[in-house]
Order: sequence, then C-alpha cells, then structure tokens
Amino acid sequence: MQSEEIRRRFIEFFKKRDHAVIPSASLVPQDDPSVLFTTAGMQPLVPYLLGAPHPKGRRLVGVQKCVRTQDIEEVGDNTHDTFFEMLGNWSLGDPKSPDGIGQGYFKEDAIRWSYEFLTAHKDKGGLGLDSERLYITVFGGNDNAQRDDESAEIWQKLGISKERIFFLEDNWWSPGESGPCGPDSEMFYDVTDKGLGELSHEEFVVADERQMLVEVWNDVFMEYEKKDGKVVGKLVQKNVDTGAGLERLAMVMQGKNNIFDTDLFNPVTQYIQKNSKKYEEKAARIIADHIRTSIFLVADGVFPSNKDRGYILRRLIRRASVYAQKIDITISDLNTIAMMYGEQYKNTYPEVFDVSGGENEIIVELKKFQETLVKGLKKFEEGIDPFILATTYGFPIELTKELVKERGAGIDEEQFNQEMKKHQELSRKGAEGKFKGGLADTDPKTVMLHTATHLMLAGLRKYLGDHVHQAGSNITPERTRFDFTHPEKVSQEILNKVEAYVNEAIQKNASIEMEKIPKQQAKENGVEGSFWEKYPDEVNVYKVVAPDGIIYSQELCGGPHVRNTGEIKGIFKITKEEASSSGVRRIKAVLE
Ligand code: SER
Repeated sequence: MQSEEIRRRFIEFFKKRDHAVIPSASLVPQDDPSVLFTTAGMQPLVPYLLGAPHPKGRRLVGVQKCVRTQDIEEVGDNTHDTFFEMLGNWSLGDPKSPDGIGQGYFKEDAIRWSYEFLTAHKDKGGLGLDSERLYITVFGGNDNAQRDDESAEIWQKLGISKERIFFLEDNWWSPGESGPCGPDSEMFYDVTDKGLGELSHEEFVVADERQMLVEVWNDVFMEYEKKDGKVVGKLVQKNVDTGAGLERLAMVMQGKNNIFDTDLFNPVTQYIQKNSKKYEEKAARIIADHIRTSIFLVADGVFPSNKDRGYILRRLIRRASVYAQKIDITISDLNTIAMMYGEQYKNTYPEVFDVSGGENEIIVELKKFQETLVKGLKKFEEGIDPFILATTYGFPIELTKELVKERGAGIDEEQFNQEMKKHQELSRKGAEGKFKGGLADTDPKTVMLHTATHLMLAGLRKYLGDHVHQAGSNITPERTRFDFTHPEKVSQEILNKVEAYVNEAIQKNASIEMEKIPKQQAKENGVEGSFWEKYPDEVNVYKVVAPDGIIYSQELCGGPHVRNTGEIKGIFKITKEEASSSGVRRIKAVLE
C-alpha cells in the first residue's frame, strides 16, 4: 500500500468516527517558546490540551509535519529520520461532558480504534496488518502514577494475549520539560521474515533494540501536567493524543525492514545508487534524509544561518554535502534530489514543490559550503589541526574524525570527545529551543498575561494609531515585556487610558473566541498582526468579545489564551515605558 493511501485511509477511518480534519501546522511553531520545530502532532494543540475550546470540536484527526534532530547521529539505520509525518487522532476533554460539538473519549475507544485501524481488513478501511505480529507496551507505574492495568485489560479484551503485553516504566510521554503529559501505550510490529513468536520481557527489549520490532503507534493518555521536568498534578481535562509515524507504517505495509526502501524514500535512494561511483548505503540514506528535511524546512521559511533553526538547517545541509562528496554525488545531483521531493510531495505539501525548483536555498548553501570545503581540505592536507577544520571551516565534527582516520592521521581522542559533546549539546538545545521572545511557558499566569498583552496592543492602537504593531514580546508568569512600533515616548495620560482599556475588558468577563479564517478575510476584517507573509493561507484569529458585543481585540495568534477575561486575576498595570531601539518602544506590565 502506497503512503498516500495510508494517509487517506487514516483520515477516512477517523472521519467516520466523528473526527474533524485539521491541516498540518508549519514546522516552525507559532508562539511556542519551548521548541524550535514542531516535533510532534500534538504540539500545535497544546492550548487545547490544556483546556481552551478548539473551534472544530473535541475529536480531531490530522497529519502533522515534524522535525526531530536529537537523533541525527542515528540516521542511516533502519528507522531513524529527522523529518517525518505523524498521523494522529485526538480527543480533547472529559468524555463525560458532551457540549453539543462532539464528545471526547479516553482509553477504551482510543485503544480499540488504534487496534481496528491497524488490523481491520483492507476492504473495511483498515491496514489489514497481522495481529499475531503485534506487541504492546503499557505504563508500568512510578512515583507519578500507578501502573496502567486498565489499558492492558482493554488490549486483552481486544484479543491480544497477556504474553504480548509488556509493562514499562518509561511509557510516559511529554513534549518537553513543561506541558501536558501522561502514560502511553505503544504498538510494535514484528518485521522479521519468520516472525518472532512469544517473547520474554528481555527478548522483547532486545528485539526492539535490534529493530526487529518497529514502534508504529503511540496512544498517550494526557491527563497530567509537567512543570520544569516534574509532574505537578492533573490537567483540568482528560485528553487522548495519538501518533503513528507514516514512514514506519509505510515500511510495514510495504513489507520492508527499513524506511528507506519505502515509496517515501525509494526513488531518491535508487537515484543515488545509480549516480554514485562509490556507493555506500548509509551515506545514501543520510543524504536522502537530510535533503528531504532541509527542503521541508526551507518551505516553511527557515534559512541556513549560525543560530537556532538556521543552525540546524545548515548542519543538515553540510552533513548531506560531506556524505555526498564521500560517495561522489554532485551538487547538481543534490539539486535533482530536492526537486524529486518537490514532485513527490506536490499534492500533499505544495509549499515544498514551490521552493524545490531552480536555484533553491539548499543549493545556494551547498555552493557556499563547497568553497569552504575546498579551502578546508587544502588546509587539512597541509596538516593543520583537524579541530580547526571543524571550528573554522564548519566541517561536521563527526566527519572530521572519519576524515582523520581515513588519511591515517592521529587524533587526540579526549579533545575530540569534548568537541563532539559540545556539538551534541547544541543539537539538543536546538530541539529544546532557546527563545528570547514569545511565552516563557504555559503557566496559567503567563497565559493570563498573554491575553492581557493582546488587549494592551489593541489599546495602544486605539489611542496612538494604526502605525502601532508588535515588534517583539517576552511573557513570563511575573510580567509581560512588549515592544511595539512608535516613534516617541508615550505620555502618562495615554498609558493610563491603555491600562483602563485593558481593565475594562477584564471586568466585563469577555470571552476569547478563536476562529480559523482565510488570511485575506482576516486582513479585510482589520485583524491585527505582524509578519503576515509568514502565515499560511488560513490563519487563527483570537478575538476578545464582551457580552455587550464590543470587540476589544482581534489578533493573529497561535494561543494559548484564557477562555474568558474573568479568569485573569488582578489589575493590569503598566510599570515601565522606555525606548527599545530606533522607532520601537518597550512596555513592561504586570497583573497586580
Ligand atoms: N505525542 C505522541 C508522540 O509523539 C503521540 O502522538 O509519540
């Protein structure tokens, strides 16, 4: 079964079960300070998992583009990649509180539907996988919560024997150090020729490590909240967050033991094999993966640079380039590969097709790096310290080691390991994010101040004029720091009026409504926003509407916000107004 058909079936299956379809969000998260990239299907849904009502209801289904680079060194084995598509279905909220927009569900339905989709006959809309090849893990219990016997029982009721269900302590999923989280149940599929049959706990762990088993789906029962790495209690609602990696499902559906032989990669890996004069499988896989991730990142507006997202993109392109040199693949071949991906994803992700042709960003970066590489290699031949290659000439550090070994030169292992650690930390940081702007966390106080900041911007525009736009923000539980375009000092009188405007909206118990509308329509409606060109054709607009019908604010945003201004505790107070940079003023404000 082709991957396009797997996507289609997944969406259809859940649509039939009353799920509304949501489109993939950008790989660059909007207003989420905790990550550089969208790393899971649930990430754009965090505000709704925390309790904000989703405009499409409680049951959602979609396919989300994701990038995870913490395992970049593993790419080249059978199952790791840095870009993947995550098929997911979600339930937001308590199953027992129907509110007219579809009811939520929890463990029983989530597990049953996962099982049905995987194993139902192809004629019945499923994937028709062999239930005898399925192995299940459930949460084994720890200080945060007790062992999840309930999920194990549900699996047994569906016909999975006790011997195929393993309790693991680390079956707990969270997107990072803070946010919604909970125990999970994972589904593994046996991809060996003969079939593994009954496995002991230890044998299961080994089979997983050796990639004889592949995790194809994860059902997370998100009812807990984590702060700074610690589980602090239950969320206001119970949620279901599931994720099935398309690449891995394609692998098992197409009878392959690795993702690179599936239709998602195969045309490219074949092309590399045909055109390489010194073919090596691992290098071909790395090139295929890195160019694919790079073109998706470029399509979502990331540019190679020395910082944050741009650094990760640059590293991917440089690694691809070095491996390409190794197996004699030219820049023009890499260009062809980028274009092949453009064609391949044309219908599902037209934005990739749009950037993949001609002299795209990847090619520009590759050419720049080519010059660096030639200079660097020359220096290397002259015996220059290999670490200077890495630090000055931007050679990926792990490849410097290979190069040194290949040429029979010695290497200071200790120095090398130190340097390697530094780079790994940078990659990890990349995944965790390190933003100066946006919301510092999803603490209820930060969320209150976020909504108040929207009101403040609306107030500033009301009293100063339409030239005022957001130029930056940084919101913590203690205060909001907000930069906006305005040429001169704001008088105390205006600041008082802005404060009064915000406090009036707070006192009126205004509701916060989110709607997804075409960008053009939002512009015509006078919705406030900066960087319009960066947003997709459909945008999220957050409105603050009082019971008397007055709209206090309408602004482009990804949330999270309070549901009602009545939830904002305290009086809004501007504590400082000062210059930030030329033509930009800065306000600090608190809720007292
Ligand atoms: N968020 C979970 C994961 O990424 C399930 O989708 O595995």
